Amino acid sequence: MTYSLPNTRDEALALDSADPLAGARASFRLPDGVTYLDGHSLGPATEGAVQAVQHTATDAWANGLIRSWNDAGWIDLPKTVGVKIARLIGAKTEEVIVCDSVSINLYKLAAAALPLSKARRIIVEADEFPTDQYMAQGLSDLAGVEFVRVASGQGEAELSSGGVLIKSVVNYRTAVVADMTSHEAAAEAGGGVIVWDLSHATGCVDLDLGAVGARLATGCTYKYLNGGPGAPAFVFVRNDIANQLSSPLSGWFGHVAPFAFDEDYKPTAGAARFAAGTPSVLSLSALDAALDAFDGVSVAALASKARALGDLCLWWAERLGLQPISPGIGEVRGGHVSLLHEQGYPIVQALIARGIIPDFRAPNAMRFGFSPLYVRFVDVWDAMAALEEILVSKEWDQPRFKVRSAVT
Ligand SMILES: Cc1ncc(COP(=O)(O)O)c(C=O)c1O
Repeated sequence: MTYSLPNTRDEALALDSADPLAGARASFRLPDGVTYLDGHSLGPATEGAVQAVQHTATDAWANGLIRSWNDAGWIDLPKTVGVKIARLIGAKTEEVIVCDSVSINLYKLAAAALPLSKARRIIVEADEFPTDQYMAQGLSDLAGVEFVRVASGQGEAELSSGGVLIKSVVNYRTAVVADMTSHEAAAEAGGGVIVWDLSHATGCVDLDLGAVGARLATGCTYKYLNGGPGAPAFVFVRNDIANQLSSPLSGWFGHVAPFAFDEDYKPTAGAARFAAGTPSVLSLSALDAALDAFDGVSVAALASKARALGDLCLWWAERLGLQPISPGIGEVRGGHVSLLHEQGYPIVQALIARGIIPDFRAPNAMRFGFSPLYVRFVDVWDAMAALEEILVSKEWDQPRFKVRSAVT
């Protein structure tokens, strides 16, 4: 469905009534009085995820004890949950495994990619998410390869000299979407390899890793996939190269027969060799159930609605004289919109005090996230109307809104 831009609150309500994705909101346990615009950072709980964690704790763990590794299918969760994610990123089912954090997976994949690259160097762009830059630096130190930091948007050109580029599909600050096809073509031509970070893209961008020729990727599951705080990340490895690659973290869960207790490491086949240690079962059970909210929903529909919600935010931003750093109305964009204001931090706190929850990224970006499964057009309308009141009245200008918390 294509969504038109509403000009009034009533038109926003009408769009919600006609929205084919509207029913998905009922899967979520959203607190009364809260408008949640931070699903790009931590997705909310689904009813199913809460029940799955309770069941796993009180039944499978408390009663089943160690038997549940077999009887409750715990041992298979990294693969079975990977199958659900595969559909959302355009991968084959066996190309995805759920394990570790994005940081650790970036490290494993970039190290494994080095032998495929014409040149032994690791490339990141200057505005890449910090952990991507830090892991690239740490790996290049350990591996003794060149660390190359290029200006924003220059990674693709840099691939002409080979190297391993770590690159987000959606920039965490601006929501600019990288052209995966042209990047992969540049990597192919220059003898380079890309490790994609899908953290801000999975669940809100129409990803098709198979079609764009992606070889390696990882992504977060606690944002748009709503897997819960600290939910494990996923790894994607294209089938035809998986068995040529070696994970630098050769843990027993990547071994072909972990319970054979052999002395020597022998990797299992495919993407599964990138697992390392024991899976986090409680988190995986939450993620497994949370992914059911995507049943029957196409990624194209998710992407279309996320962009339409973002368009409405941008339409308001223009009226309020706020400067966006995200792509404009009608343009390709991830699931969030960033608006600049030098008082962004207290403004976000003033919104939170009203029950409207976006987030803030230093030094001055207010990020509004439009997770398409549960955010409504009327939510965006009301949030932006509240923002207008806060700006006009200077409600943000209170000492309590200027106290910085550890997590912003
Ligand atoms: C682009 C990107 N990569 C990685 C991460 C986090 O990775 P990790 O799962 O290691 O905390 C985030 C978190 O917000 C992110 O936005």
